[in-house]
Amino acid sequence: MCGIVGYIGQDNALDYLINSLRVLEYRGYDSSGVAIYSPDGHIKIIKAKGKLNNLIELTARNPQKGKIGIGHTRWATQGIPSDINAHPHASSDSEVAIVHNGIINNFHELKEELIKNFKITFASDTDSEVIAHLLGLELKAGFSLKNSMLNIINKIKGSYALAAISKNDPNTIILTCHDAPIVIGIGKEKDLFCASDSAALLQYTDQIIRLKDRQVAELKLNGEYLVFDGKTQKQITPQIQVLNADPVSLDKAGYKHFLLKEINEQPAIIRKLLAHHVKDNLKIEFAELKPELLKDINRILICGCGTAFYAGMIGKLALETLAKIPVEIEFASELLAREILVDEKTLIIAISQSGETADTLLAVKTALKKGAKLLAITNRSDSTLSALAEGGNILIQAGIEVSVAATKSFTAQMLCLYLLAINLAEIHNSLPSEKLNWLKNELRYLPQIMEQTLARSETYREKILPYAQQKAFVFLGRNFNYPIALEGALKFKELTYIQTTGYAAGEMKHGPIATIDETTPTLSILLPGSTYHKTLHNCIEAKTRGAPSLGVIDDLDKSARQELDTVFEVPALPFSEEYKEFQDFFSPFISVLPLQLIAYYLAEHLGKDVDQPRNLAKSVTVE
Ligand code: F6R
Repeated sequence: MCGIVGYIGQDNALDYLINSLRVLEYRGYDSSGVAIYSPDGHIKIIKAKGKLNNLIELTARNPQKGKIGIGHTRWATQGIPSDINAHPHASSDSEVAIVHNGIINNFHELKEELIKNFKITFASDTDSEVIAHLLGLELKAGFSLKNSMLNIINKIKGSYALAAISKNDPNTIILTCHDAPIVIGIGKEKDLFCASDSAALLQYTDQIIRLKDRQVAELKLNGEYLVFDGKTQKQITPQIQVLNADPVSLDKAGYKHFLLKEINEQPAIIRKLLAHHVKDNLKIEFAELKPELLKDINRILICGCGTAFYAGMIGKLALETLAKIPVEIEFASELLAREILVDEKTLIIAISQSGETADTLLAVKTALKKGAKLLAITNRSDSTLSALAEGGNILIQAGIEVSVAATKSFTAQMLCLYLLAINLAEIHNSLPSEKLNWLKNELRYLPQIMEQTLARSETYREKILPYAQQKAFVFLGRNFNYPIALEGALKFKELTYIQTTGYAAGEMKHGPIATIDETTPTLSILLPGSTYHKTLHNCIEAKTRGAPSLGVIDDLDKSARQELDTVFEVPALPFSEEYKEFQDFFSPFISVLPLQLIAYYLAEHLGKDVDQPRNLAKSVTVE
């Protein structure tokens, strides 16, 4: 979604802003812009609808010199994507320019008041513009830029990360935030940066300060940075954090798309996570968790959105199978729609790649107020979620996920949940240690089998392309592979834009089968396990009604192979008669791979923007 960047220092601000905006492109946006404080004493604003290259062309035609600037990528919420609605926005007297992420909930009232009492004419349809006018009025009344910001945060309601520059106070960038992230980057040459996503700063610094809600920060041209508490207005000493993200994640490493690179990174991430958490004596360690976090709990509530939610669905199965603790799972947005029933014996597990998803954060905050314990599974140690879960963080260590469609974060989240399930089973003595040791041993095969699966990419590509003209697909699975059917369908629709629905295979006969005919290819996940035969029956029922039948099967399969029109074969997982109950336990790590790949290859074939599908944003920071 929207992205903010800023630079103040001795170099040309524009270069830094453009480089940083380039990094934020992955978040999804529909317009971009910059505001530079120019040596002639004016603020120059340049903005353009569409891709960042449009802005770059404009700035190349009209290069702006200046040491102080702010920039923005906008993902439209209030007001259509257009040049005018793009940020930065200025006050009527062009005294101040702002960039804003989030939503100002009371903007209608504020706008009416500004028009009625101050005869202000609005240039755009955005909610953000009210902030520029409010600041402009404060400056006119004689307040400094910092005090103007401290004053207006008492007037605006909603979520915001804000950066502002002013002619009135030309050596300063002012920042603030509430329910939306913004960080300061401390450069080596007394230069300072800011960004709503620290990925934008990786190329310049690893020293950051995360602003807390309603703090106001003043970044000065001499390299000084001051942080104030918005309530007491007193200066505070902020905590400097060291960024540990790997800048290599921002490189395509020879792949055509970030998505393909990230799909192929999965075995290495799983290997790294296993090495980090499973010690040589097969002991599982979560050194980052407070020991008391996992004790004295009688219920688990998992929440997340989209792909993170589907990882959570599989986590529920793993946790209930092994730790025997009742687990509920709910979309974060649905949790917010009702009373969240939790207490101090409830562990809420919040899953979020970005750690910045608004719905997830709000659900977590509500649960925390009611006394629940929080465990966060996230990819970003510098995120809001991670800060909320101090002593309760499991980092998925997947490296920055650039492609909007989540892939590597999904398998890494699943693995963390499996390890947690085994660890909880050990703590609660819910299964004999031989069983748990067998499971831990089996986990070690996963990276290799995942690699063998990915090595078949080309075959998967060849097999899906004949379906390129289909208008709708149905994906089916049961038990551990029901969430994989949902996740596979989500990847397929978001990348190819083809209507794709995932169902629990057993539900087919209860309604969805009415949609099945020769125009709805049905893809079933048919890996060995207790539900294999039932799923195969559902698949045949669809085939009987004319649906082209596709399936994910393993190399040893005999039955499904004969029934299906197209099979995506994966290597067989090791099998033990003694531990037959766990036959489909690990299959999601393998079955999801061909589904990610067929979505990628079909979308690429159809000429879709695979790394940044239309209408989507990487981190959904508004409710
Ligand atoms: C789908 C996808 C989204 C995210 C969802 C949650 O490919 O990427 O469904 O999974 O928006 O995002 P995080 O995990 O950042 O909370």
